[in-house]
Amino acid sequence: MELLHHIKSIRKALKKARQEGKTIGFVPTMGNLHNAHLALVTQAQALCDVVVVSIFVNRMQFGLNEDWDKYPRTLEQDSQKLRGVGCDYLFCPEESEVYPNGMDAQTRVIVPSMAKVLCGASRPGHFEGVTTVVSKLFNIVQPDIAVFGIKDYQQLAIIRRMVEDLCMPVELVAGEIVREADGLAMSSRNGFITADERPRANQLNRSLNWIKSKIESGERDFLRLEAEAKAQMSEAGFRADYVSVCNGKTLEPAAADDLNLCVLGAMYTQSARLIDNVSLTLGEA
Ligand code: PAF
Repeated sequence: MELLHHIKSIRKALKKARQEGKTIGFVPTMGNLHNAHLALVTQAQALCDVVVVSIFVNRMQFGLNEDWDKYPRTLEQDSQKLRGVGCDYLFCPEESEVYPNGMDAQTRVIVPSMAKVLCGASRPGHFEGVTTVVSKLFNIVQPDIAVFGIKDYQQLAIIRRMVEDLCMPVELVAGEIVREADGLAMSSRNGFITADERPRANQLNRSLNWIKSKIESGERDFLRLEAEAKAQMSEAGFRADYVSVCNGKTLEPAAADDLNLCVLGAMYTQSARLIDNVSLTLGEA
């Protein structure tokens, strides 16, 4: 695997691969890689000849009171893991190269629909930071395929919309959620969960699955289910940020006759904000 820090060098390497007729798969990350990231790399490898992973902890998508400064930077371990799965290129640019004119002056990409609800409501500006950096990374790498984990369901829905709206020539592929044995979705932020909280930290997943089973057995009072799920999290010692039964495509609150649904939630532990989702298809969707 080649580790490259500069836009010029990754472009040069990929130009050669493209001239040889190779297809390029891309997995953008912020590092601190775990098995769910590695599964995305394996998925990209099955679809493309050459796979690029990027690691860039994008300050633009963190709010002022968020954890940008304590977000784990583990380049050495990440490189080893990527070598282990046979990744071809690891691209780790400096902030000064990604935002050469500073972040305030940076041209931004905004997807107005979907960006201000759910996670966007409690993290103002977050998705603007995501879509701006992802579009820059797409321009740098110019991948044929990009793989994103579906744990960040809203992120993927927004990126899909950006790609569609801006006619970006990239195919998006969703990677399944990888879970710990007790159902907790793997996340770089799980390291912030305390030992005391850890046995209960799967409550978010348990509550979302509880809603799913209620809907599957005919319940349609989504507001009641959402309120009950939040109460379950509170009983387990956590604060729910939101729980929402949504239309799986638009992310608008689900209508009683919607067939493709996604139940999304976010929950605060003492030092982490966890997100998760479960999808369900009703009837003949
Ligand atoms: O999901 C992430 O790790 C980040 O939001 C992404 C897509 C790499 C953009 O910084």
